[in-house]
Amino acid sequence: MATYSVPSRVREGAATPITDLDRYREAWAHAERDPNGFWLEVARERLRWRKEPTRGLDGDFDSIMDGPLSWFGDGTLNVCENCVDRHAAAHGDRVAILWEGDDPSETRTLTYRELHREVQKAANALRELGLKKGERAIIYMGMVPEAAIAMLACARIGAIHSVVFGGFSAEALRDRVRDCGAELVITQDWGLRGGKKIPLKSVVDEAVTGEPGVKKVLVYRRTGDEVGWDEDRDVWWHDAVGSASETHEAPALEAEHPLFILYTSGSTGRPKGVVHTSGGYLTYVSYTHATVFDLRPDDVYACVADVGWITGHSYIVYGPLANGATTLMFESIPTHPSPARYWDLVARHRVTIFYTAPTALRALAAQGNEHVLAHDRSSLRVLGTVGEPINPEAWEWYFGVVGEGRCNVVDTWWQTETGGIAISPIAPATPTKPGSATHPLPGILPSLRTPEGKLVRGPGQGLLCLDHPWPGQARTVWGDHERFVSTYFAHVPGVYFTGDGCRRDEDGYYWITGRVDDVLNVSGHRMGTAEFESALVAVEEVAEAAVVGYPHPVKGQGVYAYVVPQPGETIDEAKLTAACRTSIGAHARLDRVQVVPGLPKTRSGKVMRRILRKIAEGAGDELGDISTLADPSVVDKIKAGAILEG
Ligand code: WT7
Repeated sequence: MATYSVPSRVREGAATPITDLDRYREAWAHAERDPNGFWLEVARERLRWRKEPTRGLDGDFDSIMDGPLSWFGDGTLNVCENCVDRHAAAHGDRVAILWEGDDPSETRTLTYRELHREVQKAANALRELGLKKGERAIIYMGMVPEAAIAMLACARIGAIHSVVFGGFSAEALRDRVRDCGAELVITQDWGLRGGKKIPLKSVVDEAVTGEPGVKKVLVYRRTGDEVGWDEDRDVWWHDAVGSASETHEAPALEAEHPLFILYTSGSTGRPKGVVHTSGGYLTYVSYTHATVFDLRPDDVYACVADVGWITGHSYIVYGPLANGATTLMFESIPTHPSPARYWDLVARHRVTIFYTAPTALRALAAQGNEHVLAHDRSSLRVLGTVGEPINPEAWEWYFGVVGEGRCNVVDTWWQTETGGIAISPIAPATPTKPGSATHPLPGILPSLRTPEGKLVRGPGQGLLCLDHPWPGQARTVWGDHERFVSTYFAHVPGVYFTGDGCRRDEDGYYWITGRVDDVLNVSGHRMGTAEFESALVAVEEVAEAAVVGYPHPVKGQGVYAYVVPQPGETIDEAKLTAACRTSIGAHARLDRVQVVPGLPKTRSGKVMRRILRKIAEGAGDELGDISTLADPSVVDKIKAGAILEG
């Protein structure tokens, strides 16, 4: 069956499903030759517009410093209406959200009709609480359907949501509340994950106390356990949403109206509030979700990420719902109550498309195949990975053991900033090579560059850049467009710099090699070395700290901290761990800590991270020339004390 209905006027156009390599080449060439024509066709075909756009792209990378790009600038639409109302009308009984709780016996389903009712009530409740178009709401929740409902309700009224992953600390949450100027925080009493209770409301209390900007805190009751309560500020979801009217007229919003802000780590400073807008983003996630995964009407699609990350935004909520699909929300973790959880989930819900991170596959493969083999996986058709490079062994395990050698594996490369999948196989069309993200999707024009910005042609290695705008890309950094420009467009003027290194082989296949900046990727979680370092140097006994990543067999990267004590002080490792947890969150763990007498620095005082990285990965004998260091002897002292096993 076709992925979506194709009216006659576009039978051979941009919206035709890509089922083979020729069709892929054709679509890619079309988007390269005529990006506006290609994307306007996709946008009109896939979305319901209140006012159909006639304009494609306005602006370009060369003039990005003058202001954000715009796609479909004269169009208007409502994102929530696109994700819910039109499907409720066309197939209201289809399951929109299939939810499985931390305890596998706890499940819920919301049909499109039910979801429609819930988002209308939630939208009315948000309006009642005073939230208006353009104002910001922070969503700090676990994986419950109400998190998606909250996102959609914000989108419906034109409020800008910023979902903060439920593992972030109160300090990190407060930073985000302040940075975006949130009026409202939406949370739940407690979260439930892997059998553990997470005190979400209490973290919110700590974060927003003394923050005058936050007028209301809306609290969904998940576990019913005790929470603190501020009568003036706190409102129960079941009261506010429960009593709200069931009809809400979705307003038409400009295509470039901001949809959400999502904070993500960079190589320097505090996390950036990446801004995504409405029409272009929704066009892009709808198109890529349908195309890459070969979406069919009866699919049961399961992406087991968290809505706190971009994967959850684009491929649990907005992409699948824009496509009228059944999307699974999973509250738990892959090893609860046993390492068979994912495959049990697949069997019970007859999942057809499954999307996860390589780190989970590596962890599960290590637990033995019997956990997989004990469950029926015959429903599976497409297997996706995202978040980090997948090593060929993990790829083969996924393909051979999980997928019984008969499913398409799609290794999808993208970023918070790209909004959606950018380099990836298209399930039915692209011949794969284990470990390669294969080819750019239509509209994505990758290039490899030397550090000086020179083009690498043909096979070779370089910095991965994207040379032409695409509708799903981030428009700016919240409140700081200059930072947006200097982060992504200063390395190589005129193109978008991804921060990743990449190799292109003789067949034109792309192999992402990982970050080339000071961003860590630990179990698919993106964290900045600078965030760790600022947490560490705030510890009284610490004089200086440098944090680098090193290859870790399961997590992809581990976190290696070099710490210089204050004169005469000793370092308590537990205190360092606590500092990172307090400043960033529970997921910010230090894998290795080494107390060192000093850091290798140039004569101008710059820390030579290259050297620290080499030592951390156990390659301290390949340091090359270190004569430019202010004090080369420090290197031998670090090497002598290095912790070698990762
Ligand atoms: C960074 C972006 C994309 C959603 C989840 C992560 C790395 C992502 C792949 C892949 C190799 C990958 C890159 C990228 N990455 N997918 N398939 N192969 N590397 O989003 O937190 O913004 O992180 O994740 O290094 O720059 P994010």
